[in-house]
Amino acid sequence: MFQGLLTGGIFKRAIDRKLVESNICNIRDYTHDKHHTVDDYPYGGGAGMVLKPDPIFESVEAIIAAIFHNQGDNSMPIILLTPQGRLFSQQIALELSKHSHLILICGHYEGVDERVREHLVTDEISIGDYVLSGGELAAMVVADAVVRLIPGALGSEASPIDDSHTTGLLEYPQYTRPPAYRGWTVPEVLLSGNHAQIAKWRRQQSITRTLQRRPELLDKASFNLEERQLIDRLKQA
Ligand code: ADE
Repeated sequence: MFQGLLTGGIFKRAIDRKLVESNICNIRDYTHDKHHTVDDYPYGGGAGMVLKPDPIFESVEAIIAAIFHNQGDNSMPIILLTPQGRLFSQQIALELSKHSHLILICGHYEGVDERVREHLVTDEISIGDYVLSGGELAAMVVADAVVRLIPGALGSEASPIDDSHTTGLLEYPQYTRPPAYRGWTVPEVLLSGNHAQIAKWRRQQSITRTLQRRPELLDKASFNLEERQLIDRLKQA
């Protein structure tokens, strides 16, 4: 499943530039029975299977041994992807991008033995209030959002500082050539070359768009007086 992420786009470029390394580990390789069993029936009964603790503990311990030669870095996040985790955000991506190593554990089937949560993982993350059939897509979402924040990953020209959510607001509208397409024109200010005016227009557009689409985000962002007045005007309109 991970080949798509690892062989294209920004992630691959970051690997090629040696900004990031990725190791995929299959917990089946850390089983000791001939069927390579990773799950079992839940104690107490009920539908579905539960991922056994031993292959998960042993694979994480093997990774730590390989990376740190057992000198465990105890600040390294060991993250279980689960719908029960804290909700992933740009803020969390930024926080994770500052760590030199991350371990992402993908749950599967109906559940994971609770001892993994209690005694192995340091964090549990959900990518949204819906249930995926496994944690792999969630792990790729987290990895992609984190890797693009590593300095140099986006290339020298691009920067994540204006991204939606980095400022706490949604991003402003973007245009490229041609200046008129099917009669639809690019806002005059963007063609003006006046950088101060452009920055102001973009900020106002971000605020307007955020108020229309995600008003709850405005509560967490900070504004100058003029921007506050704009928000009040927009709310009254
Ligand atoms: N595994 C299944 N659903 C998930 C979700 N929404 N977030 C993270 N991991 C998951």
